[in-house]
Amino acid sequence: MADADNAAKADLTQGVALDGIADGGMLAGLVDGEDVILARRGDDLFAVSASCTHYHGPLAEGLMDGDTVRCPWHHACFSLRTGEALRAPALDPLACWRVEKVGNTAFVREKVTAPAIEKMRARSAPESVVIVGGGAAGLAAADMLRREGFAGAITLISADAAPPCDRPNLSKDYLAGTAQEEWIPLRPPEYYAQQRIDLVLDARVALLDVEQKLVQLDSGKAYRFGALLLATGADPVRIPLPGAEDSQVHYLRTFADSRAIVARAASAKRVVVVGASFIGLEVAASLRARGLEVHVVAPDKTPLERVMGPEVGGFIRKLHEEHGVVFHLGQTVSRVEGSRATLSDGSKIDADFIVLGVGVRPSIALAEQAGLTIDRGIAVDEYLQTSGPGIFAAGDVARWPDPHSGSKIRVEHWVVAQRQGQVAAKNILGQRVKFDAVPFFWSQHYDLAINYVGHAEKWDRVEIDGSFDAKDCAVVYKLGKRTLAVATIYRDLQSLQVELAMEQGALS
Ligand SMILES: Cc1cc2nc3c(=O)[nH]c(=O)nc-3n(C[C@H](O)[C@H](O)[C@H](O)COP(=O)(O)OP(=O)(O)OC[C@H]3O[C@@H](n4cnc5c(N)ncnc54)[C@H](O)[C@@H]3O)c2cc1C
Ligand code: FES
Repeated sequence: MADADNAAKADLTQGVALDGIADGGMLAGLVDGEDVILARRGDDLFAVSASCTHYHGPLAEGLMDGDTVRCPWHHACFSLRTGEALRAPALDPLACWRVEKVGNTAFVREKVTAPAIEKMRARSAPESVVIVGGGAAGLAAADMLRREGFAGAITLISADAAPPCDRPNLSKDYLAGTAQEEWIPLRPPEYYAQQRIDLVLDARVALLDVEQKLVQLDSGKAYRFGALLLATGADPVRIPLPGAEDSQVHYLRTFADSRAIVARAASAKRVVVVGASFIGLEVAASLRARGLEVHVVAPDKTPLERVMGPEVGGFIRKLHEEHGVVFHLGQTVSRVEGSRATLSDGSKIDADFIVLGVGVRPSIALAEQAGLTIDRGIAVDEYLQTSGPGIFAAGDVARWPDPHSGSKIRVEHWVVAQRQGQVAAKNILGQRVKFDAVPFFWSQHYDLAINYVGHAEKWDRVEIDGSFDAKDCAVVYKLGKRTLAVATIYRDLQSLQVELAMEQGALS
């Protein structure tokens, strides 16, 4: 099949008629066996790798905007001139090729080293940066500090035992058994030494002294900082299940949590998942893929209803039921005796173990203790600066003024956390970049991905374009005349177009 695909692709070294590529268009082809896209913007031609450096999304099916291209799968954005990954979730650049125009024909020549990105755009860099939190935001910030040419000390402190990892994968392919262990770390072990990032693992910061500019671990060890980024993420909400042994109950936040569920699933036949939001449902899908009988227990009437409304929720419920998941909605687990769980309506389910996915709370204890302004999260301004001088916050902990909704919001999305980490890093270096990205998240259930752009906490109308049954639709969340958010199923290009229109304020 791959050979047949390749045979149909143009050999870009042999020349492509310029009339064959529209202005703002892309052509997928091959260069010495490698998949490359040839893109045109006015008189400028660019040739870059066709495969996104995040999860290999097909960039030719993405969206060009000026001299950038956005990936259709999770909205990474790359410079076509330099290949640089301008926006997460991709962190690594695309390969670039030289393009030569001869008359009306474009030839893709040799691979080129990307022109050196202008380094050290910093106006006022601190001597050292401490990042508390080794997750999406923390790693993206450390990465961006070095990319921007920061030469000072970077210390990345994480309460996790594992280096920063691809957290979204922990409930999806890794848990389903289709992603390998070595795909999960965001960076290989040697990266930290090469980038001179002092990675301190299994270490919890217990104290932040704003005046003295230091943080202290619970072991007593202290680190002074010039600038500080708080990227402490969120902790799973823990609810007591009367009668349950701790060893029966699993939560999912860390690599270790996911491994523990995988180990447990190996000898189990049946699981109860408590919670019908994203984590619970993704866990349900992945454990079905491992052949377990899965029962989802949740107080909600419809899965995902709070975030996505009853229309999407009903469709997702049907999808899971088609894959064999049994729902017990409007129920809670009232008691566990041995392997038997009793639900609030008195019905009983035998289960080898229980996974609780009932939401998270932002990890704000450190910021609270230090006296920083708290607003159901750590309050930050548009530059992601907290109320403490030289102290920034990013990711699941941060509540920021979102220019698109006009409200202060806090979200729990991977891409938002990474992009905030990147913007915070630039602001630590004095660049005064506003965080104005349109929120985006994706969720995966079996082979179905939902992409969501914007932010809708309350809406008064939902417009559905297309059909759930055909797995081809866009769901538009509106308040009055305003479009707050759009969820899409198998409409990746539309999702990118909506994101761009929202950025430009061009969506009513
Ligand atoms: C299983 C799973 C699947 C997900 N899937 C998706 C998805 O498909 N799409 C999506 O958009 N989002 C998804 N999310 C949400 C996404 O992962 C989070 O929004 C994102 O990780 C937030 O990044 P963060 O950097 O704020 O926090 P995290 O990535 O949670 O990192 C926080 C870090 O802070 C550390 N920490 C906390 N307190 C301290 C302390 N006092 N001292 C030292 N270190 C500390 C923690 O150990 C951790 O390393 C998923 C989350 C989970 C758990
Ligand atoms: S595959 Fe391109 S952003 Fe994920």
